[in-house]
Amino acid sequence: MTMDSESKASASSEQLSLDRSRFTFQHSWFDQDVRPVWEKLLIADPIRIRGIKRNILEVGSFEGASTTWILDHLMTHPDSQMTAIDTFEGGMEHLDPDQVYAYDVSTLESRFRSNTSKCEHVNKLRVMKAKSDDALLHLRREGARFDFIYIDASHVAIDVLHDAVICWRMLDVHGTMVFDDLTWKGYMEDCYNPRIAIKSFLKCVPQETEAMETDSQMWLTKVPNRISATPNPDPALYYGINVSK
Ligand SMILES: C[S@@+](CC[C@H](N)C(=O)[O-])C[C@H]1O[C@@H](n2cnc3c(N)ncnc32)[C@H](O)[C@@H]1O
Repeated sequence: MTMDSESKASASSEQLSLDRSRFTFQHSWFDQDVRPVWEKLLIADPIRIRGIKRNILEVGSFEGASTTWILDHLMTHPDSQMTAIDTFEGGMEHLDPDQVYAYDVSTLESRFRSNTSKCEHVNKLRVMKAKSDDALLHLRREGARFDFIYIDASHVAIDVLHDAVICWRMLDVHGTMVFDDLTWKGYMEDCYNPRIAIKSFLKCVPQETEAMETDSQMWLTKVPNRISATPNPDPALYYGINVSK
């Protein structure tokens, strides 16, 4: 085999190993809406390119659409690792027969397992079948650290906020945390959609965050603290009222 035919053969075997048609997904939202953006931001950007050792956390995996993409593209370094958290019981939008996202969750875990088993790097995947409340605190107690975190589990605002705070504590400086469904409005009340939580979280961490919005996601990069605390010049106003009176 010549060098040229060898490199062509390896390119086509790589294409085969990345072929998304080998997976079975009922919902195509990741491939339709998210994947094109991720391919642009994560693969085209030389700082985030494949082949780097990565430690990735995914909160909310569903059928494994995002999990399989991450396994195929970001787990190529031999020491890379991925942790995926999911109850495999679906979120409230999957359990609601009136929602367009309604899903037969009894098959969810087996579909996830079947899809991820087709990935070359599945041996680098740790699956935690649990609520994110419990799994994230468990990881934190273990001292886990991550350089890329994808938050896409419960869409209820207080759950998103909880996931965000604990995940942020485990994110390395210069790491990236991505929230899905920034613009999703499956419910009329703000408290059942992620947006209010993502925006509130962002207001709490301006000193160490660079933020970027894509069509439906919020990307946060953690940077070294760049805003020092300025003491209030008037102690009498510490509590917003003049305490001397
Ligand atoms: C929107 S789907 C994830 C989609 C997936 N990231 C993708 O791109 O294909 C949300 C998933 O989060 C899981 N989930 C919902 N609430 C959860 C919670 N509190 N803890 C853990 N997983 C949860 C559901 O079982 C569901 O599989």
